[in-house]
Amino acid sequence: MFARLHVFLALVHIAVAEQPEAPAPISAPIRDIPWGQLNFLHTTDTHGWHGGHLQEAQYAADWGDYISFAQHLHKRADEDGSDLLLIDTGDRVEGNGLYDASNPKGKYTVDILPQQHIDVITSGNHELYQHNTSEREFEKVVSGFKDSYIASNLDIYNPKSGKLEPLARRYRKFTTKNQGIRVIAFGFLFNFQGNANNSVVQKVEDTVKEQWFKDAIEDHDVDLFLVAGHVPVRDTEEFDLIYKTIRAAQWDTPIVFFGGHTHIRDYRKWEKRAYGLESGRYMETLGFLSISGLSSGKKYAISPEASLTYQRRYIDNNLYSLHYHSGKNSSNFQTALGRNVSKTIHEARKHLKLDHTFGCAPQDYWLNRAPYPSNASMLTWLEKEVLPDTFNDAKVPSIVITNTGAMRFDIFKGPFTIDTTFLVSPFTSSFRKLKDVPYKAASQLLSLLNNEGRIMLNELAALGLGDEPFGEHRLHDLLPPLPPVGKQSIRSSAQDFAPPLTSQHQTPLSDNKDRPLIPGYTTIDDAGDDGDDTIHQTIQFYHVPNCIAANINISKNPAETPETVDLVYNEFMQDWVILALRFLGEVRGKDDTVSVLDGKSMTDVISQWVAKYWKCKD
Ligand SMILES: *[C@@H]1O[C@H](CO)[C@@H](O)[C@H](O)[C@H]1NC(C)=O
Ligand SMILES: *[C@@H]1O[C@H](CO)[C@@H](O)[C@H](O)[C@H]1NC(C)=O
Ligand SMILES: *[C@@H]1O[C@H](CO)[C@@H](O)[C@H](O)[C@H]1NC(C)=O
Ligand SMILES: *[C@@H]1O[C@H](CO)[C@@H](O)[C@H](O)[C@H]1NC(C)=O
Ligand SMILES: *[C@@H]1O[C@H](CO)[C@@H](O)[C@H](O)[C@H]1NC(C)=O
Ligand SMILES: *[C@@H]1O[C@H](CO)[C@@H](O)[C@H](O)[C@H]1NC(C)=O
Repeated sequence: MFARLHVFLALVHIAVAEQPEAPAPISAPIRDIPWGQLNFLHTTDTHGWHGGHLQEAQYAADWGDYISFAQHLHKRADEDGSDLLLIDTGDRVEGNGLYDASNPKGKYTVDILPQQHIDVITSGNHELYQHNTSEREFEKVVSGFKDSYIASNLDIYNPKSGKLEPLARRYRKFTTKNQGIRVIAFGFLFNFQGNANNSVVQKVEDTVKEQWFKDAIEDHDVDLFLVAGHVPVRDTEEFDLIYKTIRAAQWDTPIVFFGGHTHIRDYRKWEKRAYGLESGRYMETLGFLSISGLSSGKKYAISPEASLTYQRRYIDNNLYSLHYHSGKNSSNFQTALGRNVSKTIHEARKHLKLDHTFGCAPQDYWLNRAPYPSNASMLTWLEKEVLPDTFNDAKVPSIVITNTGAMRFDIFKGPFTIDTTFLVSPFTSSFRKLKDVPYKAASQLLSLLNNEGRIMLNELAALGLGDEPFGEHRLHDLLPPLPPVGKQSIRSSAQDFAPPLTSQHQTPLSDNKDRPLIPGYTTIDDAGDDGDDTIHQTIQFYHVPNCIAANINISKNPAETPETVDLVYNEFMQDWVILALRFLGEVRGKDDTVSVLDGKSMTDVISQWVAKYWKCKD
């Protein structure tokens, strides 16, 4: 057992795994993983980042390194008689060139992912937006994870038979290798309705009434219920209902939840026999959780008298952390399989020319780590430079609006590559235009779309002004991803829209007072503020508006405002634009809209602008 001390390692790192172009991690004070009787590694919302972060040393390890890491921890479990299980809770697709740049999308990741042995894996909403993504999931990915893919509330029309059937098995019962712990595992998706029509997400309230579910939770030959799901662990009607339903059947069997979707690190206590872990996003975090004191078919190898304890740690996905937690170093960390997978990723990236450079960013541009408006804000850059330059051919006065949710990630100083375009704005939606909209209405649109943010839009939708019902998660998608911070700040964000979003503090280590710490996650969750493995300096996050707009060919002089303008917007927000215009007294329909820029997406617009203006100095 490692002592649970805050250890400072000052080793100089020599990178010999991860992607060759990845930066070497920086040494930092680190907390041990709280190894126990039954241990878990959890990934979620990886969105194609299986090659790691090539511009951020803190998250630069890749899927091959994760495989090596898991193999070392499996060995540790075999040696001390404990167990290790791996979990993934969906949204593996969309958001990184390694997935998005191939044709068909996911051509390489479909073989890379199953090289990792995962014990319980589920689908997220992103696996279901496109007809062909979910079909590929059904035909290729489910078979790559034969026993472990679970779809408790998700069905698909089988492309061969046309019949509606479960995407994968409804649940799984198994016994752990060394401890003989009997586990019943479920795999859920939140009550998502924005999927393509070839899949059907059952409401969780309906699923828990199904006979198979009732039978599964009535099974008394079980030591642990494991509920994995693409569902947030906090403020979640879906997990709360599952918790209550299991508890009504079995009052004291331990339960563990693994969740996702909101891209945060979080750990929630339902009660002392039920906890849940959420493990961030984009391969930044490997979530670790252990449970000790579980009953099992066999004798405890760890501690026979242990009372039930749950512990968690959020591992920063870099080689420094992975070497540290596996007790390995640069010469003995990589396993044969891990090395193979890192190599496969490297070759895929080369095929896809992901390192092809459009230009070089002169500075960092932040999505929500800089205030808006400001020079370091990516949104200010879009609004003041990219959009005006792109649409300045407009002969008529125009207002160009985009939802900030069209942007996914920051731009770092340095090469702006094909890969960067997929990270920054992976969406394919094009721009559309409504002609001759009275300036009075058009000029109020932005403030309406932004006014009181989410609440206002929700109320509009509730008034039924739209042509079609809006799923709540369409609304979620209009906004940029929530800053990846824990419960305290998310809570305050709901009540208080003034920046900065968070000012979480952390306790500096007394023995490291004068050493500057690396900026990163400083999570506060139900177990306190010691969850992060690496001890970071807090990052400030700022609120950003739902939408930004650029005025083109419109005089700043109020006396010279035009009668009408062309209203250009990102197609993704069309329903909202039409809805808000109606609210402003301008009735327009989809048929009144036309395509602009020959169907170019935001991604195309940005990469063309970068190629034109951001020269690289050699
Ligand atoms: C789905 O179809 C689109 C459009 O043809 C294509 O770009 C994409 O690669 C396809 N995705 C998959 C997973 O086949
Ligand atoms: C899905 O929608 C398409 C066209 O919008 C339609 O042709 C198809 O029959 C629908 N499929 C199902 C299963 O409802
Ligand atoms: C790594 O650890 C092994 C075994 O402890 C040791 O023999 C080797 O010298 C170490 N290599 C480096 C680069 O530290
Ligand atoms: C790694 O790949 C090579 C060739 O691609 C293969 O011969 C070898 O068996 C693989 N090793 C593992 C552990 O998968
Ligand atoms: C921001 O940009 C404006 C306009 O280019 C400039 O005047 C100002 O000095 C810049 N501020 C900073 C902090 O760079
Ligand atoms: C709008 O464009 C026209 C034609 O290019 C030009 O004459 C006019 O000065 C522009 N007006 C503004 C306010 O930019």
